[in-house]
Amino acid sequence: MTNLEHLRKDFPALAGTPDMPPPVYLDSACMSLVPRAVLDAVEEYYTDYPGCAGRSLHRFAEEVGHRYEGTREAFARFLGAPSPNGIVFLRNATEGINLVAQGLDWKPGDRVLVTDQEHNSNLVVWQRLAAERGIQLAHLRLPSDGTFDAESLDRELDRGVRLVSFFHTSNLDGRSLPVREIVERAHRKKAEVLIDGCQAAPHQRVNLAELGVDFYTLSLHKMLGPSGTGLLAGAPERLARLSPLIVGGETVEWTTLTEHQLRPPPHRFEAGLQNYAGVLGAAAGLGYLEHVGLEAVDAHDRSVNARATRALADEPRVHLLGPEDPARRPSIYSFTLDGVDPNDAALFLDEGYRVMVRSGMHCVHSWYRERSLPGSIRASFYFYTSPKDIDAFVTGVRELVERIPASSTHAKSLPAVSRRKTAPRSPKRPG
Ligand code: ALA
Repeated sequence: MTNLEHLRKDFPALAGTPDMPPPVYLDSACMSLVPRAVLDAVEEYYTDYPGCAGRSLHRFAEEVGHRYEGTREAFARFLGAPSPNGIVFLRNATEGINLVAQGLDWKPGDRVLVTDQEHNSNLVVWQRLAAERGIQLAHLRLPSDGTFDAESLDRELDRGVRLVSFFHTSNLDGRSLPVREIVERAHRKKAEVLIDGCQAAPHQRVNLAELGVDFYTLSLHKMLGPSGTGLLAGAPERLARLSPLIVGGETVEWTTLTEHQLRPPPHRFEAGLQNYAGVLGAAAGLGYLEHVGLEAVDAHDRSVNARATRALADEPRVHLLGPEDPARRPSIYSFTLDGVDPNDAALFLDEGYRVMVRSGMHCVHSWYRERSLPGSIRASFYFYTSPKDIDAFVTGVRELVERIPASSTHAKSLPAVSRRKTAPRSPKRPG
């Protein structure tokens, strides 16, 4: 086990009180917790240089402008992006996908290929384009064991694809796709590639130059940044061929009453006043993450996931989603439980054990609906997840299993669990 336990004290949300043990936060795939350094950076912005970048010439504005552009450079280095001008700050990866979708010059009949396991952010966008601009949406079915079938990809590419838009790591089951291979195959057939890196970049080293992707987007609030921060990365000359999602102040070189000239990327995409506090907070989060090191994060994820996987492996009513080997889905343990509705299970774990998981369809309705599943229970991990957290989760799941009547196979509500969100009852933690 990579021992990162000493880092937990840096996360205010993990502090317990004399009456209450620390919460067990297993929902980092939705949003990571933030270390104190991020809160300090946000406060420092509002206290020491609360200006708007790129407009005024006074000292607050100069200072925030300098730090904001410095953050762009830091993320470009972190991602191995060709230039800081290829980093566009946005609210989240959803906005990044929308930017590419709305920004490309589509022709009716252009095909977009997604997997059958995409988050709604990488699905609804294309469904709308199909309705509004006549693009065709094709789906690549992924094998349930977590392997990747390159031949099916080639078959789809042979039918003509303008854009491949895949996740890097799945928020549903934690599997990763072989992005470099996908890009090589797609480029050979003249398709471009957009990758949603939300669940990958917080956990594994991502080098955009090596992956060769055209566009890569991620949410910074899944990697220690403040909520509502994200980015889209791409080569500046590639980004320059996208039309902006919104335009306005800061996006133009000049205007007349009838015309305007857009600025080059990235500024043409950052209309209006930006989330300076959020971006500077994300910079502090990045510094913290680099200090921990992605190799240590990955080793830790694997270790805690292996602990959960081992502990529940002999439980016949627990059905794991995705690859069996935790090393192939290090940050996520997602499962269904015979006889229990996933939302009831989540409430039970929260109320009884202070264990916070995500339940339901994880914004991948299409995947669960095709399988007639009501959803799953998802525990997701990060470097601050402790072995004790895993033990509390496992104990809670085992208690749930004990409560299920022996004959029960379909998801049902547990009579003992209230669906009302109330203050958690006295926590029961394993010794
Ligand atoms: N996509 C995020 C999740 O899976 C919100 O929780």
